[in-house]
Amino acid sequence: MNIILLGPPGAGKGTQARHLVEARGMVQLSTGDMLREAKDSGTEMGNRVAEVMARGELVTDEIVIGLIREKLETSKGSGFIFDGFPRTLAQADALGTLLSETGQGLNAVIEMEVDDEALVARITARSTCGACGEVYNDITKPIPADGKCSHCGASDFRRRADDNEESLRTRLMEYYKKTSPLIGYYYAKDKLTKVNGLGEIAEVQTSIASVLDA
Ligand code: AP5
Repeated sequence: MNIILLGPPGAGKGTQARHLVEARGMVQLSTGDMLREAKDSGTEMGNRVAEVMARGELVTDEIVIGLIREKLETSKGSGFIFDGFPRTLAQADALGTLLSETGQGLNAVIEMEVDDEALVARITARSTCGACGEVYNDITKPIPADGKCSHCGASDFRRRADDNEESLRTRLMEYYKKTSPLIGYYYAKDKLTKVNGLGEIAEVQTSIASVLDA
């Protein structure tokens, strides 16, 4: 089963994708994580994308489609979760082509609806375990009192360079201008289901599970 988690920055795509990896053995393909890895590796491409990401703008279609193509060829599991991809109509068309070239399809597109006010509150309170990627939130999911990641035990917590109000404003503009047209695109293909992303993390998990099990 291959699915897309679609939603604005901070909607909870990464949080829910990590749960699906553990619960269902699916493979999370997050273009944001791939780009951050490229950035940390100091490659020429990594250096080029670092500034674009820090500003909150979208990286070129060519780069992200190349990253996804490579992962589709090399990853194996019980289906893919596309997290943060596609983000433009060109990326959506490319994904359709890549999946059909590898004899696969797309089962569902889950749109996670969260209002802008909640997104700002979530993003500015987020931190991530540098070792395993577990996502925390100062308010709703604080780092454990012993200072160790509940998932892997590491003590290296990070805040993202683009998790500030200014970059977030740009990220939201990019989402509404370039990514939100995908809602109509997948609705027309009869793939779209909306989920209320404003509930507790466990409630959102249950809503997504019922879409996948339907
Ligand atoms: P990316 O890494 O994809 O970031 P994003 O889409 O902005 O999404 P986030 O990771 O910020 O949020 P999320 O929805 O995963 O929320 P999370 O689960 O962490 O992209 C970053 C940048 O890379 C882009 O700006 C762009 O430059 C580039 N890029 C990436 N893909 C690209 C592409 N395809 N094309 C072009 N450029 C691309 O949750 C957020 C917080 O809320 C956490 O603290 C969490 O604990 C908390 N939380 C989660 N769920 C709940 C809940 N239900 N209730 C309360 N709190 C919750």
